[in-house]
Amino acid sequence: MKRMESTAPALPAVGQSLGHESGPLHVAGRATYIDDMLEIQGTLHAAFGMSTCAHGRITKLDLEPVRKAPGVVAVLTAKDIPGLNDVGPIIHDDPILADGLVQFYGQAMFLVVAETHEAARRAARKAIVEYETLPAFLTAAEAAAAESWVLPPVHMQRGPDTQAVLAAAPHRLSGRAAHGGQEHFYLEGQIAYARPGEQDSMHVYSSTQHPTEMQHAVAHMFGWHSHQVSVECRRMGGAFGGKESQSAQIACAAALAAWKTGRPVKLRLDRDDDMSITGKRHDFEFEWEVGFDATGQILGLKLLMASRCGFSADLSGPVNDRALCHFDNCYYLDSVDVRNLRCKTHTVSNTAFRGFGGPQGMFAIEYIIDDIARFLGVDPLDVRRVNFYGPSSGDARITTPYGTKIEDNVAPALVEELVASSDYRARRAAVAAFNASSPVVKRGIALTPLKFGISFNATMYNQAGSVVHVYADGTVMVTQGGTEMGQGLYTKIRQIVANEFGLPADAVRMAATDTSRVPNTSATAASSGTDLNGKASQDAALKIKARLAAFFAQQHGVAAESVVFADGKLISGDIQQAFGEVVIAAYRARVQLWDAGFYATPKIHWNKDTMQGKPFFYYAYGAACAEVAVDTLTGESSVLRVDILHDVGKSINPDIDIGQIEGGFIQGMGWLTSEELWFRPDGSQKGRNMTHAPSTYKIPAASDCPAILNVKLFDNANVEDSIHRSKAVGEPPLMLAFAVFFALRDACSAARGSAAPLNAPATAEAMLRAIGGLA
Ligand code: MTE
Ligand code: MOS
Repeated sequence: MKRMESTAPALPAVGQSLGHESGPLHVAGRATYIDDMLEIQGTLHAAFGMSTCAHGRITKLDLEPVRKAPGVVAVLTAKDIPGLNDVGPIIHDDPILADGLVQFYGQAMFLVVAETHEAARRAARKAIVEYETLPAFLTAAEAAAAESWVLPPVHMQRGPDTQAVLAAAPHRLSGRAAHGGQEHFYLEGQIAYARPGEQDSMHVYSSTQHPTEMQHAVAHMFGWHSHQVSVECRRMGGAFGGKESQSAQIACAAALAAWKTGRPVKLRLDRDDDMSITGKRHDFEFEWEVGFDATGQILGLKLLMASRCGFSADLSGPVNDRALCHFDNCYYLDSVDVRNLRCKTHTVSNTAFRGFGGPQGMFAIEYIIDDIARFLGVDPLDVRRVNFYGPSSGDARITTPYGTKIEDNVAPALVEELVASSDYRARRAAVAAFNASSPVVKRGIALTPLKFGISFNATMYNQAGSVVHVYADGTVMVTQGGTEMGQGLYTKIRQIVANEFGLPADAVRMAATDTSRVPNTSATAASSGTDLNGKASQDAALKIKARLAAFFAQQHGVAAESVVFADGKLISGDIQQAFGEVVIAAYRARVQLWDAGFYATPKIHWNKDTMQGKPFFYYAYGAACAEVAVDTLTGESSVLRVDILHDVGKSINPDIDIGQIEGGFIQGMGWLTSEELWFRPDGSQKGRNMTHAPSTYKIPAASDCPAILNVKLFDNANVEDSIHRSKAVGEPPLMLAFAVFFALRDACSAARGSAAPLNAPATAEAMLRAIGGLA
């Protein structure tokens, strides 16, 4: 047996900017995504047949021409599903294949299984379908007018009677605004590869954030038990929330086809099909009435938040709940009365997307504050500051509308640091001076803060498991419940485990996430992947360490408590021995070298009926300052400079965290500026998503990156006992992009001479309209 004797000096693995564990593979094109796996002999390929009607009863579905097409092996419909025809993660209203009724343009109606991917796609178009058309609501407003909901409206009231507060307020404003949805645009589209096994079993390689839910969905579809299905995911080429629940339809369809044909089946959605079939970020429409004093302090707020959920509930309940838990952002709101509509429309079923409703809720309050500042003729930053939550637990202004006391508030200090480092005040004056002498190009500037709650709202999901193997040669393998989507989870877990054993990171290898190795996992979502799985992996490592320390202590006649793991060794005073030597000796002495770990987030509780509790373990904070220029004749804009200060607690890996901050910020900027979804509003193709490819849907390009982008980590250890006092970083930075949107609104308002009614995305057309230059 060859022992692992690393000669490289062991760095303290936690806190170091180690490269992404798959970085060299990513850049060399050698990281194995599901479509790169060597195909098993006999593999077939599947494609969906999709509806061309937004809402209608299928009166004729002639699949004969599909069956006769070259290469076709099977054509499957809802009738071929032996168990549950449903992938709804919470409410069971989400068919795998439409059964008689179609509820959006592009809905999957049947599945073609063929010898090649091409043959399956070509054949799928040959179906002859007729519909009896039913009325279709495309927007939240249309659905709300008809009281069409996926879930009942929710009302949140806190503090003194809002109507009375509004009536007595020195100033009152009413307003409305809206923002668009957002396509995930993961580089790797939805894909699953299913392999039938012996004794009624199925192994599915799924590009998913939630292997356990895929396991359940496939089992329910067959009417099987969980132990008959295993789901594996080594990595995703991006997910962003789009593979939390919506990977289930793909996993189920591939498994169904594999079961029916007895052969391995791969289902990879073509980009256009992916964008037509899968849900996106919820777009919201807002209406409000706000009362405030002469300083801009908000006294009362009445707010209506209507979301377009699409045809099924999917995760719309939790997404809207998170919007309700984030419309306060960093601000204390004494008297609030919020109505939240979860509108059922005949469009794709909207789903999780980085921020999960948080950005949507925060958009509303940031817009309202911007309006108040423009009404009072003061700097929006000053209105933000007078409304901040109190800084200490002694302050009365620290309770959120959902009943949590904010006890880790660093927003005021963080904002002051950014005001200074970005030279905000001087630059605002410079922007005003520039605008005074520039009739066509107008500049704008904004500085916006964010606060984002970390944990799943539903307490149950805040648990995780991990299995750590120390092999007899001294190498380590970790299998944990979290999934890797590029965010660096595997890298951070590897660092955490290496750190416990005092080993260099390359002594630790990460195994693919697999339901047959770690069961009952939660989605890798809510930014809590490292928080949960890092703690669970640490727990497993600590158990193994305790046994190794006891063994070493006994061998050398020292106290077990005195043993430390560092520099690839076990050390007690001046006695030391290489980790690998201790391990092989311990193996021979029949000491258990592997273990499982578990973690459940402490201190949290949530009552979803009253919408009260402490749903979040802690908050992550950040702020951004953006300066933009807008050509008021063409609507063209550019982001000149962005300064970001973001709180990741004590960073486990600063470079990975900065990568998440930059990526999240740019993705948020795309949402708020150029990414626009457009569904045909009428005609024979009513409801068809015409923005189903990069040709018509514009994500930010390298050239859209701000010319100056300064990103700094805020020095701030987590006050809670999170893994190494770090903070989650996956989603919060997306909301840094509000600075860009409100800087654009600032520029448009300068051109218009009054508050510009700008909605997001702030495309060239939207800005010209807001300035008043376009009908
Ligand atoms: N980063 C990359 N590169 N790719 C992704 O798909 N998803 C985001 C974020 N960062 C994503 C990403 C989302 S929506 C979430 S919830 C978190 O990563 C999930 O991972 P974490 O909990 O490990 O941060
Ligand atoms: Mo992220 S939207 O919680 O997957």
